[in-house]
Amino acid sequence: MDGGNQSVVSEFILWGLSQSQKLQVLLFVIFLILYFFIVSGNIVIMLLITTDHHLHSPMYFLLANLSFVDMWLSSVTTPKMISDFPRENKTISFEGCMSQIFFAHCIAGVEMVLLVVMAYDRYVAICKPLHYFTIMNLKRCTGLVFISWTTGLIHATSHLVEIVELPFCGPKEIDSFFCDMPLVIKLACLDSHDLDILMNANCGVVAVICFILLLISYTYILTNVLQSSKSGASKALSTCTAHITVVMIFFVPCLFIYVWPLNIIWLDKFLAVFYSVFTPLLNPAIYTLRNKEIKNAMRRFLSNYLFKENP
Ligand SMILES: *[C@@H]1O[C@H](CO)[C@@H](O)[C@H](O)[C@H]1NC(C)=O
Repeated sequence: MDGGNQSVVSEFILWGLSQSQKLQVLLFVIFLILYFFIVSGNIVIMLLITTDHHLHSPMYFLLANLSFVDMWLSSVTTPKMISDFPRENKTISFEGCMSQIFFAHCIAGVEMVLLVVMAYDRYVAICKPLHYFTIMNLKRCTGLVFISWTTGLIHATSHLVEIVELPFCGPKEIDSFFCDMPLVIKLACLDSHDLDILMNANCGVVAVICFILLLISYTYILTNVLQSSKSGASKALSTCTAHITVVMIFFVPCLFIYVWPLNIIWLDKFLAVFYSVFTPLLNPAIYTLRNKEIKNAMRRFLSNYLFKENP
């Protein structure tokens, strides 16, 4: 096919997570509850960190930013998936599909860079404790947050430019619960092989660079922590294991979807659910349950605002 405007597809059909009617009812209830916890959990973290001055430090500002990003990461795909469960034919408009691709990649890009920034913050705190507040001042911290949003926007825009021009003329069925970029590219009426490679390279560069930076900083941190026998070591270790867990549950699914795609449909769906639902859900859980400061802040918050009448 050559030339001409072949973008005649105005909507795509999503197959969703499952075809079984009964299972969809169950999934509807489960994901509705999970999404409620994702939004409220992340909002609680942001609220605690902004209102409690004990938590006004770079580490917690970054954590609040991560919660903000997590909430939107899930909101790009989950509400649509939930509202689609009861529907017989699940469709998404062309524009809707393009915006899902744009926002999913933008937010995921921000999250990746933010995780690197958080690792750098821990590196400075643990390996250069005396200079922590001069290195990670508010200005630098805000600058790093700004860089992560810029990276996300550039990354997503480059994808959008790539894909919006593709000729979509025939097939329009996507075997997933959202417009996942690799699946949408396969629908284009041209040999999508080169594009596949380009896309993997684009996602790969961002993901792999971030992953390597993370590995380097956590290696530094861990060797530093393990060598020192100071009393702070075990606390530092517990903070870092929380961070590393979060990194793993976000990066591993992303790497296997976009960088080294396995092309096994049920596994791809599982990984997509994992990073769009479970990562945003687990982040607040991991940080709040493992962090004494946050738990104390929660206690202060409850006693200040909810039980004010009996001091
Ligand atoms: C993100 O971090 C900046 C400081 O680096 C902070 O001022 C801002 O409040 C944070 N955003 C959220 C949503 O907490």
